[in-house]
Amino acid sequence: MVNFKEEIAKEIANSVNLNWTDLETYIEIPKNLDNGDYSFPVFKLAKELKKAPQIIANEIKQTIKINEDIIKKVDIVGGYLNFYINKDIITKQVLETIENNPKFINSQIGKGKTVLVEYSSPNIAKPFHIGHLKTTVIGGALYNIYKALGYNTVGINYLGDYGTQFGKLIEGYKLFGNEYDLTEDAIDKLADIYMRINNLCKEDESVLNNARENFKLLEQGDEYCVKLWKEFKELSLKEFQKIYDLLGSKFDFITGEAFFATKTEEVVDILKSKGKLVKSEGAMVVDLADKGIDTPCIILKSDGSTIYATRDLASILYRARTYNYDKSIYITSYEQNLHFKQIFEVAKLLGLDEKYTDGLEHVPYGFVRLPTGKMSTRLGNFVKVETLLNDTIEQAYKIIEEKNPDLEDKQEVAKKVGIGAVIFNDLATSRIKDEIFDINEMLNFQGETGPYIQYTYVRTKSVIEKVDAIPKFKDIKIEKLNDEYSQKIIKLLYNFENTLIQVTEKNEPSILARFLIDLSKAYSSFYNENKIIVEDEEIRNARIYLTIAVGKILKQGAELLGIQMPNKM
Ligand code: ARG
Repeated sequence: MVNFKEEIAKEIANSVNLNWTDLETYIEIPKNLDNGDYSFPVFKLAKELKKAPQIIANEIKQTIKINEDIIKKVDIVGGYLNFYINKDIITKQVLETIENNPKFINSQIGKGKTVLVEYSSPNIAKPFHIGHLKTTVIGGALYNIYKALGYNTVGINYLGDYGTQFGKLIEGYKLFGNEYDLTEDAIDKLADIYMRINNLCKEDESVLNNARENFKLLEQGDEYCVKLWKEFKELSLKEFQKIYDLLGSKFDFITGEAFFATKTEEVVDILKSKGKLVKSEGAMVVDLADKGIDTPCIILKSDGSTIYATRDLASILYRARTYNYDKSIYITSYEQNLHFKQIFEVAKLLGLDEKYTDGLEHVPYGFVRLPTGKMSTRLGNFVKVETLLNDTIEQAYKIIEEKNPDLEDKQEVAKKVGIGAVIFNDLATSRIKDEIFDINEMLNFQGETGPYIQYTYVRTKSVIEKVDAIPKFKDIKIEKLNDEYSQKIIKLLYNFENTLIQVTEKNEPSILARFLIDLSKAYSSFYNENKIIVEDEEIRNARIYLTIAVGKILKQGAELLGIQMPNKM
């Protein structure tokens, strides 16, 4: 497809003798269509060219050579040059591309590049909380989008399956394990056992010593301890899997902290040999004050055991060597901002090629609150994510039952709508913002929600269903789509791929979520203002064809976010 911004930038560059790639970044898309399709703020060049904006604008307008097939008109308004593009060419190109390339993504932008997306990463024997839901959803969307753009994408679930707490849990299991039936709700029961043993450890030094001994044995590969730990892990994974099945989450690797715990020695050795490890309150730490980070990064605790950060550092070494990544992103709540700042700084001391440390990126997100306040396992007002998901599906079922009692496969549709609502809600606003998990709000079919997008898609389907003969692209009269409502849609479609690229540049799936809302709204206006099934065959066919295109992109975009589209609802 023609890249209008690029064409315009190149022509301006020619006429003022500047670098076009710089100029391209200045080009804006006017809010008001009366100001053209693209706008160049000439005043930005005033300093560099040492001339008044008005003079520069006139000079550019006079000297610029424009291809009339692409640009119809150039105007000067205030300090801006406004460009009006040839509508027919954009319409033709958009529809033709969708016809020939149903995925509508030609980008080779990711070709030959590897991106690691680390997400979800819950802790075993502990509840999967509503924050884990958010990393699972954001990570899943980013994974899909990188992949669609041609990146070699690796999805990693970095399970929290290691730490001294497992010494305690093993001790707890020894003492009270027989009181529990772990075949059901194992995580809640393990959490209970942990709470009891933790209290006991505080009261009784000898219990604490046993727990420490268990952890040592676990590290040394003691058969009994390892067997128990494996069991805790399997029971936890089985429960996590129920959530992953509901969401449709998949991972290329589930590789937890335990795997890297055996690889921490190298990290310690390198830091030691470089003289970077210093003693502080009994622990071995890397001081980061000269990097503007006040809190030192602990590498070894006073008892010599490794911590969370040490294992993360070992995983960076491993991932650099194993995947030769270009980018490695970590999706967690912003509570871990300091942790990632620290380890990314310490990683620079490990002797890795700069490519790898430059490629590290923390992708933080805000809190998720239920309508009644912050969710926290610590506060005890804990809600099970699996229950929350099932409640949403049930609520979706009720709405569907009310609106469309005769619908087939109501249960199936309710699942798509309920889960789609949850996923969209997690992605709808900029990820760093705190979010409210309000089931009624997210299921509002008229709001900016997942179900609204699904509903719009279903509408396109029902339009197409009523048509006897689906028109072919070669028979479409492009100029029949020159009205404002059709053009609004065409422009959005034109920007689809660019939207995906923006998502990866900022690791911000909300940009695609916003796009889908805008496209849905644009289609609703088009649908309300333009009759589709009209007498005039040429208009009818053009509008049907546009409807097909909208349906394809809505589906494709929603699926990239992890949302499934029902055919009816
Ligand atoms: N397991 C951690 C948690 O639940 C998240 C792990 C994030 N990833 C990492 N490489 N540290 O908080």
